Amino acid sequence: MKPSDREVRRRLLKLGLVTAPLLAMPVWARVACVPAVTNILGPAYRKNAPYRTALCDPDEPGTPLSMTGTITDAATCKVLHGVLLDVWQVNARGDYDMDTQSFHLRGRMRTGADGRYRFESIEPVPYGKRPRHIHFLLTRDGYEPRITQCYFAGDERNATDPYVRKELIITPSEHAGARNGSRRLEGRFDIALERERQVDPKSVGKWTDYEGDYEVAPGVTVSIRRDGQRLLWHLSAAEEPGDPLDGVLHPRMRDSFFVAEYDKTFRFVRDEHGRVTHTLDDDGSLARKIR
Ligand SMILES: [Fe+2]
Repeated sequence: MKPSDREVRRRLLKLGLVTAPLLAMPVWARVACVPAVTNILGPAYRKNAPYRTALCDPDEPGTPLSMTGTITDAATCKVLHGVLLDVWQVNARGDYDMDTQSFHLRGRMRTGADGRYRFESIEPVPYGKRPRHIHFLLTRDGYEPRITQCYFAGDERNATDPYVRKELIITPSEHAGARNGSRRLEGRFDIALERERQVDPKSVGKWTDYEGDYEVAPGVTVSIRRDGQRLLWHLSAAEEPGDPLDGVLHPRMRDSFFVAEYDKTFRFVRDEHGRVTHTLDDDGSLARKIR
């Protein structure tokens, strides 16, 4: 469900991103530039999906769904062209295509000059405890990668799934389908991207403090290494098959970093001598530095 105009106004003012003139802008601009809520990547992501805007054939089983949206800069509300979207979802039986070369119901596309994207698919179905959802991974030079999911209103699992955020629930409009008595859906999901944070070179120098291996579970470690201006993580084993094993730690503030793939912020914990001894995530899980 989209936030109401009043709610958007309140949030924008709170963020200090806008003053009165912006509120006179068209509604789409105001709605679209609220930064998108992040969400986990999940184990079903596959790299190298083909570039296309039709994720399946027109006769794909399920309810036809067209998805559109506008991608904007969260600070300026200007539309962003050339944003790379990578989207993936289940079929009408609740299965992801994890291994075929057709990359069924997966695709990559870029936003046009107007910042818009559009793709044709089917309405996803729930599977296991998860409600209907479509995964999105957005990247563009100079911006933080955005990993998120859109959910569908009316799914009872939205109330129980721990990953659902109400800001990510959309209500597609219903239309008559091509066949008699059939229906098709049109969904809209706008996303704002935040500029990549500039890192103070002095703080990068201190990142060597963080390097090492941390035990996240018995026999499972996350290794943290500096690579120039970036801090990288590598997980020794996945909790679920397909879970991401590598990524970048995005700096947030001193000793605090964001891991987009798992939608978690990690803080490095220091002892009384200033030495890093643990990581602490926002769920309160500690991982001890063992090397
Ligand atoms: Fe999923």
